[in-house]
Amino acid sequence: MGDHFLITGGAGFIGSHLTDTLIAAGHRVTVLDCLLEQVHAGAERDAEGWPLYLNPRAGRIKGDLLDDGVFENALGQGITHLIHLAASVGVGQSMTNIVDYTRNNTMAAAIILQALSHGHHTVRRVAVASSMSIYGEGEYRTPGGAMAAPAMRSLDDLRRHHWELEQAGEALAPMPTRESKPLMPASIYAINKRDHEEMFLSVGRALGIPTIALRLFNAYGSRQALSNPYTGVAAIFISRLLNDQPPLVFEDGRQMRDFVHVGDVADAFATVITSDSEVWDAYNVGSGKAISVNDMAHSLARLLRKNLAPQVLDKYRVGDIRHCFADTSKLQQGFGFRPRRDFDRGMEELVEWVSSQARPSDRAGDCFKELERSRLVV
Ligand SMILES: NC(=O)c1ccc[n+]([C@@H]2O[C@H](COP(=O)([O-])OP(=O)(O)OC[C@H]3O[C@@H](n4cnc5c(N)ncnc54)[C@H](O)[C@@H]3O)[C@@H](O)[C@H]2O)c1
Repeated sequence: MGDHFLITGGAGFIGSHLTDTLIAAGHRVTVLDCLLEQVHAGAERDAEGWPLYLNPRAGRIKGDLLDDGVFENALGQGITHLIHLAASVGVGQSMTNIVDYTRNNTMAAAIILQALSHGHHTVRRVAVASSMSIYGEGEYRTPGGAMAAPAMRSLDDLRRHHWELEQAGEALAPMPTRESKPLMPASIYAINKRDHEEMFLSVGRALGIPTIALRLFNAYGSRQALSNPYTGVAAIFISRLLNDQPPLVFEDGRQMRDFVHVGDVADAFATVITSDSEVWDAYNVGSGKAISVNDMAHSLARLLRKNLAPQVLDKYRVGDIRHCFADTSKLQQGFGFRPRRDFDRGMEELVEWVSSQARPSDRAGDCFKELERSRLVV
């Protein structure tokens, strides 16, 4: 029997691109997905609910990882390579749907690992999606040149709209974040992702199955759910702009993020899952470039030809960090992988794809009110 790749969450944004990448390279791929309504409601779908963009050459299992036997039955198809992407994805939403998030992210990891530990399978290699959110604040440098890994900003500072980080009264300068930075997750989603990364690395090592966690930064690209207000800043901004509303920007909009093209994320997964190196480790996947949230909003408005500047809310969303962008050298040294896509070209491509879609509904305003009601905006 040849190699057979199973992608949990393979009908989602990243999973569907990875499916295309692996199939184009000649691999056999099966997708396991429960087709969450929140993610898939806006997409064109077939009679069984699968998004039409999903590669027709992929095998399909419609099932929920949390349901008895679903994962074990999938493994029974002779799976040799497992890529676990299924998750509930949304930092703000995780702070109010704590049980659902912990069940779908942490418990689902436990169910998968327990099945692998029973040993009745053919899995030889595992890759899982982790997240930059587990870092909390990114890495910084003091004026004297020392590296700093500051704690979250104090609510007092944030209430005074004092957004930037300081240490002992001195301003800190944001630096590319390395994997060695201490993990300080600041939301239930981030805590779930840290748990899930550590669970996979530890059980994978115990079982002797090489396991790699990819800490993804902010992925953007086609097929991102445009009507889901909980995740994907580019998609959320596009939905606002297409509805002639300004993108809503927390704080002053100068916070910096690392926007990585979904094609680079798919290539990174394909590289680590098809390699034969014996590793149990975590690697950043980002573009390595810092871009402010304001700049992202302006770029999208320009490309969509909308004369709408971002609406700066001057408010802090609980759980948000100020700056975080990737140092990508570890993945390059370990696997020779380097992101290839250019941000401007990537944004143009995203806008071209959006223009071919039905106009998304914009729920960002409601989402903001929900956060205010739950006192998650300061
Ligand atoms: N998109 C990003 O910028 C980003 C950044 C960091 C980490 N990640 C991680 O990458 C992974 C993929 O993210 P995405 O953006 O493609 O998300 P997505 O929401 O588009 O895809 C997730 C898929 O998982 C499925 N799913 C969820 N729970 C399931 C379950 N219990 N059983 C079966 N299927 C289930 C959903 O139906 C969906 O198709 C996630 O683990 C996410 O935490 C994404």
